[in-house]
Amino acid sequence: MAVFEKAWLNYRVLKELEGCRNDIKVIFSDVKGKCIDNAINELKLAVTDIIGGDEPGICTCVRIVSELSDGIYLKLYNDDDKELNDGFEPGEEGYAVYYDADNRLTVIAADNDRGILYGVFAFIRNLRKGMLPSDIRLTEKPDITFRMLDHWDNMYGDIERGYSGNSFFYDNYRIIIDDRTEFYARMMASIGINAIAINNVNVHQEETLLITDKYLNEVKRINDIFASYGIKLYLSVNYAAPVEMVELEVSDPLDEGVIEWWKKASAHLYDVIPDFGGYLVKADSEGRPGPFTYGRTHADGANMLARTIAQYGGNVIWRCFVYNCRQDWRDRKTDRARAAYDHFIGLDGEFDDNVVLQIKNGPVDFQPREPVSPLFGGLKKTNMFLEVQIAQEYTGQQRHVCYLVPMWKEILDFNTYASDKGTVKEIVSGEAYGNRLCGIAGVTNTGNDINWTGHDLAGANLYGYGRMCFDTALSAEEIAREWITQEFGTDKFINDTVYDIIGNSWLTYEKYTPPLGVGWMVNPSNHYGPNVDGYEYDRWGTYHFADCKGVGVDRTVATGTGYASQYNKPWSDRYEKPETTPDELLLFFHHMDYDYVLDSGKTIIQHIYDTHFEGVEEVERMIDKWKKLEGKINPVIYERTLDRLNEQLESAKEWRDRINTYFYRKSGTEDKKGRTIY
Ligand code: GCU
Repeated sequence: MAVFEKAWLNYRVLKELEGCRNDIKVIFSDVKGKCIDNAINELKLAVTDIIGGDEPGICTCVRIVSELSDGIYLKLYNDDDKELNDGFEPGEEGYAVYYDADNRLTVIAADNDRGILYGVFAFIRNLRKGMLPSDIRLTEKPDITFRMLDHWDNMYGDIERGYSGNSFFYDNYRIIIDDRTEFYARMMASIGINAIAINNVNVHQEETLLITDKYLNEVKRINDIFASYGIKLYLSVNYAAPVEMVELEVSDPLDEGVIEWWKKASAHLYDVIPDFGGYLVKADSEGRPGPFTYGRTHADGANMLARTIAQYGGNVIWRCFVYNCRQDWRDRKTDRARAAYDHFIGLDGEFDDNVVLQIKNGPVDFQPREPVSPLFGGLKKTNMFLEVQIAQEYTGQQRHVCYLVPMWKEILDFNTYASDKGTVKEIVSGEAYGNRLCGIAGVTNTGNDINWTGHDLAGANLYGYGRMCFDTALSAEEIAREWITQEFGTDKFINDTVYDIIGNSWLTYEKYTPPLGVGWMVNPSNHYGPNVDGYEYDRWGTYHFADCKGVGVDRTVATGTGYASQYNKPWSDRYEKPETTPDELLLFFHHMDYDYVLDSGKTIIQHIYDTHFEGVEEVERMIDKWKKLEGKINPVIYERTLDRLNEQLESAKEWRDRINTYFYRKSGTEDKKGRTIY
């Protein structure tokens, strides 16, 4: 038995529901499908563990509908339901929940078992807000079709950019399948996740074998657990798998032998796992092999793989994180930010229907602040996934509180001006171009730590990611408050206090880290903590170019790398000039003098000093607020989080002092407020 906590699924009896304790006597169901047993089990738990009633009876294969009463009825959505719900159509994964007062019956109706499961979780979520079953009325369906999680777990057992312990899928090249696997699937289904890739995009030697008989039966067991929660399983594959396995000498996508190899491998895979989701690929990136080796395009590469799984309904998710990671710092024209667009824009329209390009939210790499990737506004005839990083690689590594939903919401709302329906949300929801295969993928922040996410408050990012994908209309605050209720209960003081701490924590983090969108300034390789020149003279193309006069990267067309031109108008014009570039991205687009005056009326140098002092003060206030929760929440969570907040404060001070001192020494400008700068 694995040891883990139940996170937001830690059901507790609610006194608000006392009045309906004996109302639900039977769970009736006439829906069939893989998810039904789990939906019924979840309801049983809800009745006993949240409402506090007796365990309800179960009645499947219901025939005489008119005789049902005193319970919950899971049913296929029909015309009567449609009429009762103002013409609502649930589609593939939606549901209606309503109360039939005459028969004292809660009805959860959907077109299939997955919709029912989501309806059940939605019903329970509302119960846990303290709502009586008779008051719950919902008609909901997901806004985003593919709501995916990418694990960067290695079979050795470690996790690339993992900040919550080791993998719960692998240990020392063994696949782990236990009660935690099942609980994880349940947790993810509860927030609407419907696709998960279980291995790192950097596919090392042993992991290439995941698609072979060495591991396939165990992969199938995980697949089947996931399927019973409506989740499709994906695997990351190594583009050069035939070579890595020493079966072929090349992995050229146009080579007949290579095509045959993949056809055979895919056919066998689908023979063992007929409902397998497909492949996730990182190619020609950071040392990974890919079609460039053979002078082929990424469309050649992706389509070749996609054609080997199209007939089984499989998809290829192809990442656009392709850039030259061997840059010379003296070369000021090569710009890593340009790379994804430059590599992929010319291929628009060349990808097969079952290929989707997975595009990181920004052009560089999950920095605390980046502009939105210009590819979203550039590609028009290609399926697209937005990729965000729930794991806090550059946002405090789950040692710092940094609630990321506000950042993701800003990205989804960004208007690319590609068409009338030009927001990133409209593009990745399929609204803009009507494509089936589009969605959002998040690099997950989970591991085998007892509480799943290391920092307890990082749970808000995982929960929030799923909820945001399902219902993009929810505000970041609504999502945060909902998570707090599910995690800590219905107490208003607790809700307000935790929300005060996490609500603006991304902006707080931004204040004490790299200024005005310039990014990086972290310790090389582990990416934690300040090191202003850590990446300044290296090969990864991540510079800030600070000198005695100013700082920032000139990405204009007029004098810089030309990156600004990758946007549609008006962004390309706005980003071209400092006056029209939003302050928070100024140093991403321009190299500016320290005495340039921002929209806020402050000079850049004074802004740097002020925000870094403010950031630390805000963390101090977070700690004061958290201390008010002592005795009011689970003491283990209280202490664990307090430890992390204290660490965050020390780290924030280090950031403040390093950055302020660095720019004081470079610029020679005094802080107007005369505070201590070393
Ligand atoms: C970042 C990260 C790597 C990761 C890569 C990717 O560069 O630091 O660990 O492999 O992103 O997204 O592929």
